[in-house]
Amino acid sequence: MAWSAVLLSLLMIGIEFQLSHGVEVSISKDDKLCLYGELMVNFTVKYESVGNTTKSVEFPLPENVTTVGSSCGDKSSVLKLAFGDGHSWSVTFTNDGKTYQATNITFSYNLSDAATFPNSSLSGNLSVDINPHIADVEMDTCYLCKSKDTLQVGMVNQTLWNVLIQAFVNNGSKSEKHTTCAADTPATTAAPTTHVTSTTTPAPTTTTPAPTTTAAPAPTLPTPTVGNYMVKDVNATCLLAEFALRIGFTQDDKYVEMNFEPNGTTSSGKCGVNSSELVLTSDTITIMLSFINETNKFHLNAVNVTAKPSAGEPFSNSNSTLNLWEASLGSSYMCNAKQNYTITENLTLFTFNLHVQPFGVNNNLFSTAEECFLDSDLSFLVPIAVGVALSFLIILVLISYLIGRRKSRTGYQSV
Ligand SMILES: *[C@@H]1O[C@H](CO)[C@@H](O)[C@H](O)[C@H]1NC(C)=O
Ligand SMILES: *[C@@H]1O[C@H](CO)[C@@H](O)[C@H](O)[C@H]1NC(C)=O
Ligand SMILES: *[C@@H]1O[C@H](CO)[C@@H](O)[C@H](O)[C@H]1NC(C)=O
Ligand SMILES: *[C@@H]1O[C@H](CO)[C@@H](O)[C@H](O)[C@H]1NC(C)=O
Ligand SMILES: *[C@@H]1O[C@H](CO)[C@@H](O)[C@H](O)[C@H]1NC(C)=O
Ligand SMILES: *[C@@H]1O[C@H](CO)[C@@H](O)[C@H](O)[C@H]1NC(C)=O
Ligand SMILES: *[C@@H]1O[C@H](CO)[C@@H](O)[C@H](O)[C@H]1NC(C)=O
Ligand SMILES: *[C@@H]1O[C@H](CO)[C@@H](O)[C@H](O)[C@H]1NC(C)=O
Ligand SMILES: *[C@@H]1O[C@H](CO)[C@@H](O)[C@H](O)[C@H]1NC(C)=O
Ligand SMILES: *[C@@H]1O[C@H](CO)[C@@H](O)[C@H](O)[C@H]1NC(C)=O
Repeated sequence: MAWSAVLLSLLMIGIEFQLSHGVEVSISKDDKLCLYGELMVNFTVKYESVGNTTKSVEFPLPENVTTVGSSCGDKSSVLKLAFGDGHSWSVTFTNDGKTYQATNITFSYNLSDAATFPNSSLSGNLSVDINPHIADVEMDTCYLCKSKDTLQVGMVNQTLWNVLIQAFVNNGSKSEKHTTCAADTPATTAAPTTHVTSTTTPAPTTTTPAPTTTAAPAPTLPTPTVGNYMVKDVNATCLLAEFALRIGFTQDDKYVEMNFEPNGTTSSGKCGVNSSELVLTSDTITIMLSFINETNKFHLNAVNVTAKPSAGEPFSNSNSTLNLWEASLGSSYMCNAKQNYTITENLTLFTFNLHVQPFGVNNNLFSTAEECFLDSDLSFLVPIAVGVALSFLIILVLISYLIGRRKSRTGYQSV
């Protein structure tokens, strides 16, 4: 008995050693551990170098990282690892009370860093977003995956392995229990752990209809997926955006709707004093949103959409005289309700769970939100107000009719 316990603990130490080559980070909240991560990542990035050649570099996530910008919440947490000359890798975790998942990985890289990207013809920061395959992790367990998993998006391949992560750590200490990824589970012993694998398999199949939106223009599309996007300035995040997006356009007398797929999206843009810009490029849609800062308020003033529908010619349309999504500088604009905006007579934009802040972002966080009217508690008053106004009008008409009748009667009598 005792021997087997020693052997078991030796084995466990062995496992810990095997994993501890990569980055190890602990995030605390109120002096208690709330997020733990130990992992190895290799990045392969293709970029354009001077002389019109495409170069490819491979580099690992270094052991020297900072965790500034990481945060722990009840429903959502962020692990942000910044490294080198302005590069960062961040993972967003969310939970539904029973399980948690990584909803998004954003890798932001600085092409101006000549040591990593020699002779790059572009400079500044680019970032890519991808949905990782970390899902259905039971609460109060660590996610463990020793196998390699390569995530491909745009010009970037990210290979993750020896991953041991626990988000939403409960009582300040890392759990000893693990939820193992499917790739680590030998096929022959799949039976005992089927509840984990079987819960993971249906999830992707239910979410896969969303990305293949281009195939079905006529029938109603599923609700688009919410994406998180950001633009980085010299030092820090300067623009934040979170929304699910759908476009509707008319081309050759045919109306087509397409969802914007955040998985695999490249985001870029720039921030200025008077204007800021966010450019999102997915496989099928490129959208540019431009905001201006004017008289202590900001608003969306230009939109440019280019779309490649599954059938027919590419579609492109823009308008730069818009006045949408207005809010005070120093705050963010939010509209959770489904909304549609007519951009041009041929182009409509639909948003769901919209939240943007194009100016004055501090510490990677949205400032206080100014919500659209549809979200406000007062919007239910509209029908009431209309009713009240209408009855008031009726009373007014009635009174003036009565007065008129009396006047004409008195007038008649005096004659
Ligand atoms: C670079 O390549 C693109 C096509 O890949 C071509 O259109 C462009 O003219 C080339 N530019 C130079 C400077 O060679
Ligand atoms: C990670 O990258 C390093 C060099 O950058 C390479 O030596 C190593 O083999 C890579 N590992 C994997 C698993 O791709
Ligand atoms: C990108 O790299 C350049 C050159 O190394 C550096 O001057 C700049 O500060 C970096 N950008 C960020 C956002 O750190
Ligand atoms: C990513 O991996 C795929 C498959 O191995 C390869 O075709 C692609 O060129 C790679 N992309 C980069 C940026 O290295
Ligand atoms: C960038 O960060 C450095 C050090 O954190 C700070 O001294 C500098 O003022 C910042 N620059 C800008 C433009 O915010
Ligand atoms: C995200 O895209 C990658 C490839 O681009 C794909 O392998 C992965 O399954 C996608 N994830 C989801 C959740 O759709
Ligand atoms: C907005 O513009 C004003 C000048 O019009 C400028 O003073 C202010 O700093 C700008 N705000 C931001 C957040 O860039
Ligand atoms: C921003 O706008 C203000 C007022 O319209 C102007 O004075 C200032 O020069 C502009 N700043 C930049 C950087 O364009
Ligand atoms: C809109 O974007 C497309 C593709 O990037 C570009 O060709 C076009 O000139 C842009 N239109 C406007 C008005 O900026
Ligand atoms: C756009 O929204 C209005 C209400 O705000 C609604 O009446 C209209 O049907 C919507 N249009 C589309 C195409 O969904």
